[in-house]
Amino acid sequence: MSLKIVLALLTLLTKIRVQGVALNQIANASIEDIIKQIPQEDVLGPFIRALDLFLSETQRGRRAPEDNQCKTTLLKFGENELKLSMHPRGFCSYCCKLQKPSRYIRLYFFSKSTGNCTVEIKTIRKKGLLKSAGVKNNVPTVIFIHGFTEHGLGPAPLYIRDAYLSREEDYNIFLVDWGELTSAPWYPQAVTNTKFLGFVLAKFLNFYHSTGELPISNIHIVGFSLGAHAAGFIGKYLDKKMRLPRITALDPALPLFPKDDISNRLSREDADFVDVIHTDAGVFGYPISIGDTDFYPNGGSLLQPGCEVSSLAEKMYIEQLVNCGHVRAWKLYGESVRNPKAFPATKVKVAQNRSERSFKFVTGAYMGFGVNTSSARGNYFLITNQDLPYGKTAGDQETEMNTINIDS
Ligand SMILES: *[C@@H]1O[C@H](CO)[C@@H](O)[C@H](O)[C@H]1NC(C)=O
Ligand SMILES: *[C@@H]1O[C@H](CO)[C@@H](O)[C@H](O)[C@H]1NC(C)=O
Ligand SMILES: *[C@@H]1O[C@H](CO)[C@@H](O)[C@H](O)[C@H]1NC(C)=O
Ligand SMILES: *[C@@H]1O[C@H](CO)[C@@H](O)[C@H](O)[C@H]1NC(C)=O
Repeated sequence: MSLKIVLALLTLLTKIRVQGVALNQIANASIEDIIKQIPQEDVLGPFIRALDLFLSETQRGRRAPEDNQCKTTLLKFGENELKLSMHPRGFCSYCCKLQKPSRYIRLYFFSKSTGNCTVEIKTIRKKGLLKSAGVKNNVPTVIFIHGFTEHGLGPAPLYIRDAYLSREEDYNIFLVDWGELTSAPWYPQAVTNTKFLGFVLAKFLNFYHSTGELPISNIHIVGFSLGAHAAGFIGKYLDKKMRLPRITALDPALPLFPKDDISNRLSREDADFVDVIHTDAGVFGYPISIGDTDFYPNGGSLLQPGCEVSSLAEKMYIEQLVNCGHVRAWKLYGESVRNPKAFPATKVKVAQNRSERSFKFVTGAYMGFGVNTSSARGNYFLITNQDLPYGKTAGDQETEMNTINIDS
């Protein structure tokens, strides 16, 4: 058992180390060639499974914990927050029992008119509930779903909320809180819970579509990591006649989500339009294109700029060593909400001619909020800055691509 864990950990560390491919290795490559360099294997999966087996063996034969043993704790360190619990909440034999879904799944509502004030909405079905909370049925609606170890008012959801509040138009902004179902270190249970969340939110959306309080045609779901797959499950569990217009998947989680079985992960079938931003593909993030359009900033799996150990140390962001690339996905998306043309992206070969350096950056799509949902299809590449603002103009990207030293 422990040998298995050690082996898995060693494999993992080796794989992660080779992630740091230099930009010159992606020169003279098409976006498809770049994607081919992304490790396909779920390297974390076996390690997580082994750890889970170990943890579940220590719990074997015990009764399900009492509710008072099921509290979660929030640890804050630097830019990050970590939601922890002694026991997982979910469906396993040693899990804390799931009683009413509305106790563990809630929505925080914001809009220009409710301003900074958080309106908590229970995931129950009661005609008039959304209307009385101030939800408008004639404005675009964004529903943000956080990932593993997070909670509904953590850094990522608030970042997305503030980006939408800064826009001129009015939005219904919902931040989903399912922190009790994604607490650390219980990743396999959180994976199972993505389906449960999808199911509960699908019923919620079916109902409030039928009351006219929240028409499905207004809804855009944005999910980060595990939240991206949960968004997919909402799409799968909606009434047959209903379809989500758009899902934006921010670095959808890789560990334990099967590639060959779209009924158990996010896929492009789950909404009319699915756009994906890959920032840590092959480790925490999905290594293949699973949307109508997939964006690969800086190659998608390379060490994202600014995530090098040295730059993190300089900024004292040491706690981000593990997930700097992964969390970059929501930072990029948030910037695109404030500035929809911040991220021009291209399909064209990166550097075609060594002697001439004549690479032309042809903008094929804008990544994130501003993507053209009717014309953007397939894979796109772009380069970003290492800090805010991350967006680089097409001209700057062209210059950079033409000065990459292919020979070194
Ligand atoms: C919300 O209120 C806090 C404290 O008053 C303030 O710092 C923050 O900027 C406000 N956020 C928005 C989006 O208005
Ligand atoms: C660019 O790639 C092509 C094949 O994809 C290869 O034949 C050519 O030699 C490469 N050019 C440079 C400058 O590396
Ligand atoms: C590269 O540039 C040189 C000089 O302009 C040109 O002669 C050659 O045809 C170009 N090669 C390719 C593959 O575009
Ligand atoms: C999106 O693409 C379609 C089809 O190419 C085009 O007709 C439309 O003008 C584009 N929309 C925007 C906002 O650029």
